[in-house]
Amino acid sequence: MTLSMGMSAGVAAETGGTGDLTFPQGFLWGTATASYQIEGAANEDGRGPSIWDTFSRTPGKVVGGHTGDVACDHYHRYRDDVAMMADLGVQAYRFSIAWPRIQPDGSGPVNPRGLDFYERLVDELHGCGITPIVTLYHWDLPQSLEDRGGWTNRETAERFAEYAAVVYGRLGDRVGTWTTLNEPWCSSFLGYGAGVHAPGRTNPGDAYAAVHHLLLGHGLAVAELRAAGARQVGITLNLAPISGSDPEAVAHIDGLQNRIFLDPVLRGEYPADVVERARRFTDWSFVRDGDLDIIGAPIDLLGVNYYSPTTVELRAGQQANPVHPGSEGIAFVQGDEEKTAMGWSVKPSGLTELLLRLNRDYPGTPLIITENGAAFDDVLADGRVADERRVAFLDGHFRAAHAAIEAGADLRGYLVWSLMDNFEWAEGYAKRFGLVYVDYASQRRVPKDSALWYREVIRRNGVQA
Ligand code: FCB
Repeated sequence: MTLSMGMSAGVAAETGGTGDLTFPQGFLWGTATASYQIEGAANEDGRGPSIWDTFSRTPGKVVGGHTGDVACDHYHRYRDDVAMMADLGVQAYRFSIAWPRIQPDGSGPVNPRGLDFYERLVDELHGCGITPIVTLYHWDLPQSLEDRGGWTNRETAERFAEYAAVVYGRLGDRVGTWTTLNEPWCSSFLGYGAGVHAPGRTNPGDAYAAVHHLLLGHGLAVAELRAAGARQVGITLNLAPISGSDPEAVAHIDGLQNRIFLDPVLRGEYPADVVERARRFTDWSFVRDGDLDIIGAPIDLLGVNYYSPTTVELRAGQQANPVHPGSEGIAFVQGDEEKTAMGWSVKPSGLTELLLRLNRDYPGTPLIITENGAAFDDVLADGRVADERRVAFLDGHFRAAHAAIEAGADLRGYLVWSLMDNFEWAEGYAKRFGLVYVDYASQRRVPKDSALWYREVIRRNGVQA
């Protein structure tokens, strides 16, 4: 069974096809990054420690012992980076705010130098005609809040809403589009369940508590932003089409990956099957009356991060996948399709399927791709990075997005992950997702072939044969 709408043969053919395609007028093309992955300057201008500082310094947690201490040094080089984007013709730039720069302890006193930095960045973007899209939380929780329970503690949701209001107070007059959280699935299930991301906890019950408090934080922040006058507010989820021969297994993993976030945000309820299956890990007593009304308040835009689809099958004796608590007996299978350097299957049609599913099951919410891209083993040779596989990857996914639009999906824009190579979380600097190559020793930036190709896509508002 597949959860797709049953794509027409025409759509499926077009997804893998060639030819000229033009996107709707006003379609927004951009790039994306996140604070801890690019900024560096970890101890400057009053920034406090985050859970990723702690985690990356814990031996064995990040490949090569890498940290975000320096990263792309974007904190000092943001002017050049914005100029580079302008040169590539980028129309929108999604970046995240480091909460520990704004409130070093996660609550209370505000550090004006942190706000100053983002104000300078936003002004620089506007000066180059680039639309800023702000993510308020891309995983760098202030360590002091984790010390008080992190996302397993309801208070963190309240602190997040206060922080959101502080940031909006400074940038609200010049930033039109806001997303609260990036990929709460990763924060909860990778961070608190599987322990492969910060804060590195390995308790499924904690993961469910984190899910709820992240969502509550989203809802409370939306209310704060609205009260302050925000017009475009949303959330970014990492979603994947799930397929496989066993409907029960497909529903199980779809629940844990997609519906556990989509349903509360867009329908104001947790999916009943997910709640039931999770009862062996949690009694859900952290859900209080009224929470789901807060979480389910209308949003203006759903940010979709898509990288790869998931295929599952029943397999007797299969141990649970730690990132999906309770998934005993379900195997995650991969075919012989192309894989990126992350080992992720390349399947552009999964994006069409996903966008159409959102359109069908959660109608009425405009969509934007807030991340899509790929890591490959790029090589800088003679001043050039010939990353033809990334070009092919993006071309296929742009076509897949176009097919979804043709079939009725309300997709407003596409932000490529990432502007430049950066700190890829537990993979350190080994995985390169950028359109622009970063030579970390010199901090020199070199636009890859894909960046030059993307410039043409933006200029034409479409892809060519
Ligand atoms: C997403 C993250 C982003 C980046 C990409 C590759 O899960 O949101 O920061 O690491 O994956």
